[in-house]
Amino acid sequence: MRIREHMQGATMTSDNTRQGDPAGPKTGPAEAWANPKVNRHSLDGDRYTSPEFLQAEWDAMWTRTWLLLGRENAMIEPGSYQVEEVGPESIIMVRQDDGSIRAFYNVCQHRGSRLTFATEGTTDAFVCPYHAWTYAIDGSLTVAQDPEDFPQNPCDHLRLVEVACDTFAGFVWVNMDPDCGSLREYLGPLCDDWDAYQGHDWQRVTALTVRVPCNWKVLQDNFCESYHLPTVHPQLRDSHEDNYLDSRFDMSNEGHSRMVMKGATPSHTFYGDEAPLPDVVAQRLEMWGVDASEFATRPFEARIALQGAMRSAGPERGHRHYDNLRDDQLTDAHHYNLFPNCSLTFGADGVLLQRMRPHATDPNACLFDHWYYAFTPAGHDIVGAQTNVRVDGVDAGHQIFDFGERPMGIIPDQDLAITTGQQLGVRSRGYRGAYISGQETRIAWFHQIIDEYISGKR
Ligand code: FES
Ligand SMILES: [Fe+2]
Repeated sequence: MRIREHMQGATMTSDNTRQGDPAGPKTGPAEAWANPKVNRHSLDGDRYTSPEFLQAEWDAMWTRTWLLLGRENAMIEPGSYQVEEVGPESIIMVRQDDGSIRAFYNVCQHRGSRLTFATEGTTDAFVCPYHAWTYAIDGSLTVAQDPEDFPQNPCDHLRLVEVACDTFAGFVWVNMDPDCGSLREYLGPLCDDWDAYQGHDWQRVTALTVRVPCNWKVLQDNFCESYHLPTVHPQLRDSHEDNYLDSRFDMSNEGHSRMVMKGATPSHTFYGDEAPLPDVVAQRLEMWGVDASEFATRPFEARIALQGAMRSAGPERGHRHYDNLRDDQLTDAHHYNLFPNCSLTFGADGVLLQRMRPHATDPNACLFDHWYYAFTPAGHDIVGAQTNVRVDGVDAGHQIFDFGERPMGIIPDQDLAITTGQQLGVRSRGYRGAYISGQETRIAWFHQIIDEYISGKR
């Protein structure tokens, strides 16, 4: 099958890597990814700008899907908790005495005050700032002022309203639908792919949350395509094979998708046969004890050499999870779009979580989280060089700021510069809907799933 003809269609299957390339990305079981037929989608401006569409999404989708909200190792001890906002809601996740994590709406059952404005901490109880009703970490109401003055003692029949909560790969998910299915069922083929990294203990080393003037879907659309890489992130040509013909794309019936892009290599598409050995690739070779000068004239062989070096030296350096990883997982970017609002890029020793959270009322605004979790072997530096991601350190705090106030790192700064400009365009009378390519099919799939939630098909 000719690739370009295939990619021009409205559908996309997993068989879209450059033919005859033995070093092309390998992946987990292809059969796990259904690669369903995807309809064309016009991506009308209204869905990015109208309060009515924002509300429809909230009612039919956000409150009925599993949402990645927390991190297990942010809540180690009983009573340690993490609080996250999503749209108009605030959810408390808290470690229990039995080691499980439970989640509750951050709402006092007396007259509705928010219980806590902290984002994380450790406590024996949550005490409402209004009249000091006190809730144990299991959500039970233990103290109410003047209980005899109520028709019935509130402690006997009121408790925090609980939200379904489950964990996987070190992350904590919640679901506001009391009749929801299981998290594993929802994640589908992501489970096997993510399990191999054994990343549940990876520590947060960067946590940036930015208030961005664009709809949350504009960002997720951007993370659903690699068409923008050569133009928006030209520096990636030094570390990735950034042409779509060399990448692999898959979609799942659950609404998730993935892209696998060769890393630790200069872009053959850009440089041709005369590519130099880029500094970033040379640094990775040296980091793993390979003499980079040997690859000065054969840079396209560096990726395989690096895989071999990581495979043999990894375990003795503490990277025991390499035994679970395929060779391509050692060097290549494995990028996942988790429906509805996350994009996770796995490298051998870390995962970049990019998460978009809707504004409570404004369709033209969202919160953008750019958080990186890394393997931190004792006695060794955090391995950040492979990902192009800024690393602030294990104890670095959570920074929350407005778009443009501070730099986030070159790649997210490049993405946000584009997406905030795109928001201005999609709300214009001059925007007549999108005209998308085959390699952008994952965007159409993402929007098709949203539509299916709103129309009641899901
Ligand atoms: S609203 Fe919480 S104690 Fe009154
Ligand atoms: Fe990007």
